[in-house]
Amino acid sequence: MCGIIGYTGTKEASGIMLDALELLEYRGYDSAGIALSDENGGPARIIKRAGRVKDLRLLCEEKNVSGHCGIGHTRWATHGGVSDENAHPHGYGKITIIHNGIIENYRQLIEKYELDGKLKSQTDSEVVAAVLSHFYQGDPYSAIRKTVLKLKGTFALAIMFEDIPGKIYAVRNVSPIVAANTEDGAILSSDVAAIVPFTTQYFVVPELNVVCLSREGIEMYDLSGDKARIDWLTVDWDISRSDKGGYPFYMEKEIMEQPDVINDTVLPRIKDGKPDFTAEGIKDEMLASCERICVIACGTAMHAGLVGKSLIQSMIGIHVDVVMASEFMYNDPVVNDKTLVIAISQSGETIDTLEALKFARKCGSPSISIVNVKGASIARASEHVIYTCAGPEIAVASTKAYTTQLAVLYLLTARMAIARGLWSEDQTKKYMDELLRVPDVMKEVLSQKEEIHHIADTILNAKDVFMIGRGLDYSILLEGSLKLKEVSYIHSEAYASGELKHGTIALITSETPVIAVVTQDKLKSKELSNIKEVQSRGAKVILLIKGDEVLEQEKIWSRIFRLPVMEDEFMVMPASVVLQLIAYYVSLDKGLDVDKPRNLAKVVTVE
Ligand code: M6R
Repeated sequence: MCGIIGYTGTKEASGIMLDALELLEYRGYDSAGIALSDENGGPARIIKRAGRVKDLRLLCEEKNVSGHCGIGHTRWATHGGVSDENAHPHGYGKITIIHNGIIENYRQLIEKYELDGKLKSQTDSEVVAAVLSHFYQGDPYSAIRKTVLKLKGTFALAIMFEDIPGKIYAVRNVSPIVAANTEDGAILSSDVAAIVPFTTQYFVVPELNVVCLSREGIEMYDLSGDKARIDWLTVDWDISRSDKGGYPFYMEKEIMEQPDVINDTVLPRIKDGKPDFTAEGIKDEMLASCERICVIACGTAMHAGLVGKSLIQSMIGIHVDVVMASEFMYNDPVVNDKTLVIAISQSGETIDTLEALKFARKCGSPSISIVNVKGASIARASEHVIYTCAGPEIAVASTKAYTTQLAVLYLLTARMAIARGLWSEDQTKKYMDELLRVPDVMKEVLSQKEEIHHIADTILNAKDVFMIGRGLDYSILLEGSLKLKEVSYIHSEAYASGELKHGTIALITSETPVIAVVTQDKLKSKELSNIKEVQSRGAKVILLIKGDEVLEQEKIWSRIFRLPVMEDEFMVMPASVVLQLIAYYVSLDKGLDVDKPRNLAKVVTVE
């Protein structure tokens, strides 16, 4: 889950790497470091420390470092605590490396190569440096190949050899590495975000291929030593999408971008007024023939899957399971060639989702992934991929990726209904017209962000917040609750309102604000009764309700936000924006680092 960067060229490498590490910091931010090598060779100069990239920048200024070739790392600790020694890069003999991933057999390697007492850190990564050093006798490819064959686990490694100045070697298994030529050399990173300032052309380093970056460009070899072909990709989002655009935090910017990115995701996929996935190679036959659907995803992406489940079950009438990817393998999953597997992931790198998808494919399941990052592992591991066009999502808390995932699920549900002959032309038109209204409806909500800010103020000092709703409203609240927890550190629980009285209502007091969402006409009267139940236990209720209808009940809320009216199944969209903004403003007003909440990383590549 760490961020890695490597640059070689004619420019000063330290500034380039520190800027890139700042962009990559969302992947991990407990320590950071860079190593620079000299044109004449010799040991790399390593500068690293626990803390943020800004702290590393100060250290680099103090030490007045320079060089034209270097590797850098921002860490999310796995093996070994957060300390200066455990920060990357790690040096051993003539080798300097950075590593993202987990080496599962590091203990066995320590024993086999008699490394006990010879290592400076507690990391599995330094062990890799030592094994490389063991095999290195002047031929970097041979040393890398021999080392890689000894490793069990996941890795993205960038390596410098002290007697090969100006060159960076890299290899990966599962953990991502992308690489690109710059006008004066070459660059690699764990994420295109760091490459976009230099070029729009890049490639994903295939697993177990070795790349070599130099001022002359990039070469790639497979593990048997044969030269490998590079498949170039083009970044299709503009560079302004990866800066803060005048907002104090990426999270706010990304919330505000939602109307645009939903248009970007939906419009190219409509032909003759109908959803169309021919560009993705998805045939109607695939959508018509499956007997069951299994959605696998984690966190926010899984919450998008829950909304997809409601849509598909109610409109198509087939059974949908939504499974936490991290639990999928351990519950003896029953999937087969009649089960359409849909993997959802913003990063496309979440290891649990990737492994679950691979397992399902082995069982013969047809698969579609919904991914935001082009060329990501999950996209490549599935039969078909539908890219959300959210652009780079930098804030750890997912917002625009979630709503673009929902947009794809709306399209997919409609295509499935058409493929199965379930909808008339009129029904299709009505549904598509409503989907096309979403960006404007979202804009209407966003224009009321100051009002939402005032609502957020009412929970600023709460210790616990409950969120209640039924059906689709409950699904939205699961996501709203995750958002609040991760950015504000307030304990919050989303509860199906009908279930509350089976135990949890014991926790409701006048100190427990309750956010209630009421957007589904058929559930409204029941939801309002459930609100009454918590209100009579003293809870202050923040009510998000569809439309401006006057409620007959006595006033059951202390704050109310009236959501613009859409058909029930689309109310998820405006309601989500309000919940995202509530979480954002609470975090902002608490003075927290909104984009980088404690203990979290954006990309979760460890199981
Ligand atoms: O990249 P993915 O969509 O696969 O990530 C899944 C989760 O890790 C992610 O949604 C996480 O829950 C976010 N921090 C939520 O805001």
